[in-house]
Amino acid sequence: MPRFSVTINPISNPTTYLLIPTPYSLKPIPYHLRPIRALSLAFPLRVGNLAPMKLLHIDASPRTIRSVTRKLSAGFINALRLTHPNLKVTHHDVGHHPPPFISDAWVGAAFSPADQHDPAMKGVLHHSDELTAELLACDRLLIASPMHNFTVSASLKAWIDQVVRADMTFKVTEEGVVPLLHGKKALIITARGGFVAGTDYDFQEPYLRKILDFIGITDVTFIHAEGVNNGEEARITAMTKASGELLNLAPTW
Ligand SMILES: Cc1cc2nc3c(=O)[nH]c(=O)nc-3n(C[C@H](O)[C@H](O)[C@H](O)COP(=O)(O)O)c2cc1C
Repeated sequence: MPRFSVTINPISNPTTYLLIPTPYSLKPIPYHLRPIRALSLAFPLRVGNLAPMKLLHIDASPRTIRSVTRKLSAGFINALRLTHPNLKVTHHDVGHHPPPFISDAWVGAAFSPADQHDPAMKGVLHHSDELTAELLACDRLLIASPMHNFTVSASLKAWIDQVVRADMTFKVTEEGVVPLLHGKKALIITARGGFVAGTDYDFQEPYLRKILDFIGITDVTFIHAEGVNNGEEARITAMTKASGELLNLAPTW
């Protein structure tokens, strides 16, 4: 039976995450965390949801070790594994490897019937087909989305443009547009330099809600880390608050 150590404050050491599954005998535990470890040893996790869960994880920050959203999303997945041992994660780092922008050829192919696609059109859509198939196959979608200029990063927008596909994720009918995804949940972890949630500076949450709704993902949770550029203390406070919200969410998500 594996044991787990708990790192309450992941920010002080940028290489640690929210919850780190670690063989307890290998990791020194700070004095103030020993009661938590004692509890976890006394009541080891025996029960979890053994049903397989397929998670698609999109990281959209161009940053690396200093990225708030990368750290929070990685920590959330560690927490999720505690209650979903059969979690299967497909990870796409669009922040470091952005999908291409759509082109004239792409639009021509994507908006023509699939049974009329010639080999060149199939080639143009190949990457988009793969990204869309991953989205169709997942049970849960986790997007780590930095706010850039009031909205999503360009790399996340590029991914969205590749997966919002006629006849795959939405359909145009005589009655109007019909979403083709069903039964998926999404969690969006954002980071913002300032405090913009609920203001008219926030085009990120409303946009993501709308575009996910457009393809049929309506069960969407947002967790924001805000004010992260207001100094180190504010950054730690924001990450600790968001970490707590993510820890609470993980067992029931
Ligand atoms: C190009 C750029 C644009 C940004 N625009 C905004 C903005 O419009 N509003 C805001 O609150 N923060 C803005 N920020 C701050 C980021 O949201 C913040 O640094 C956050 O931590 C980014 O997430 P990450 O750490 O995962 O990369 C911007 C940062 C960059 C690099």
